[in-house]
Amino acid sequence: MSGAAPTLRVLGIAGSLRAGSYNRALLRAARGVAPAGMDIAIFEGLRDVPPYDADQEGGAEPAAVAALRRAIREADALLIATPEYNYGVPGVLKNAIDWASRPAGRAALTRKPAGVLGASAGASGTMRAQLALRQSFVFTETYAMLRPEFFLPRAGEKFDASGELTDEATRDHLRQFLAALETWIRRFEAKPAP
Ligand code: FNR
Repeated sequence: MSGAAPTLRVLGIAGSLRAGSYNRALLRAARGVAPAGMDIAIFEGLRDVPPYDADQEGGAEPAAVAALRRAIREADALLIATPEYNYGVPGVLKNAIDWASRPAGRAALTRKPAGVLGASAGASGTMRAQLALRQSFVFTETYAMLRPEFFLPRAGEKFDASGELTDEATRDHLRQFLAALETWIRRFEAKPAP
């Protein structure tokens, strides 16, 4: 039997539908610099998630919602890259969080470890949006890593035209962030009974 810890399955969610999204590009870069024990898949179904409607709970959930909830449940942890819209979380991402937060207390998000990061064109690097996202994660009991934080300001200067993260300092920072996230996630792994 190998003593190596099993590979962590991390689900990346970018809170942007834009083809050239810096936040999705950041998740792609994360895949490239993730530690050996971490596998990052990127959720691509956000566009299909309908506006939250409590009347659609209790019966058959919309297919896109089922896919979102399943993907979160099957992951060991989340990596959420949020843009900042008007100092807050973009509606498409907040909407997905709302679906994944129900039923309260036993939702896909409940007690799921997560890393939060974000890229913006401006100078604040999504600082305010990330705080707003963390506020939602208090209620959902989502275990968002506290530190290190990861803010990517002036994203337009850090990626090339094809969406590749070319800024070496940012790549190093991302590598360190993901190494810390691996340690964070493993804290929540079930320990075998003594
Ligand atoms: C923005 N943007 C923005 N940036 C920021 O730093 N703080 C903000 O409050 C806002 N507000 C905002 C509102 C709306 C409606 C839009 C469309 C944009 C700019 C934003 O950071 C930029 O568009 C990013 O490129 C969005 O992320 P993606 O799509 O590249 O991942």
